[in-house]
Amino acid sequence: MKNFVVGSDHGGLDAKAAVIALLEQRGATVMDAGTHGPESVDYPDFAVKVAGMVSRGEAEQGVLVCGTGIGMSMVANKFPGVRAALVTDQFMARMAREHNNANVLVLGGRVVDVPTAEKLVTAWLNATFEGGRHQGRLDKISALERELRLV
Ligand code: RB5
Repeated sequence: MKNFVVGSDHGGLDAKAAVIALLEQRGATVMDAGTHGPESVDYPDFAVKVAGMVSRGEAEQGVLVCGTGIGMSMVANKFPGVRAALVTDQFMARMAREHNNANVLVLGGRVVDVPTAEKLVTAWLNATFEGGRHQGRLDKISALERELRLV
């Protein structure tokens, strides 16, 4: 199993490359789910790859980047067990782990520059899930997935 799977559309290519380099520097095994060139592509195709792998347990965590991060989040959060968080600042990135235990981080390549994208990923990686009352809330999300017959 890969530690991370990372994907983007054409709006997130530079950030994707930087995130993969950062994760590898930290010793993680990373799968690059594409896209691999600047041609216009459809973000759902890449969100499906990344969120699908996380949902099926083929990767521990994922990172997705599109122009705004909005489309990628919409798709990723349809997958059972995926908690995808679109973050734009370091506080949100830290909270995405501490409170939401996000297993997919979503960035907007046209919203944040590459150094900021690296800081956001680092803040998420360095944070620790607090559990306690927050676990109870995540349990409610899991219960909802069962109620909606998503699992
Ligand atoms: C592509 O132009 C753009 O729509 C996409 O990257 C993303 O921002 C969608 O949410």
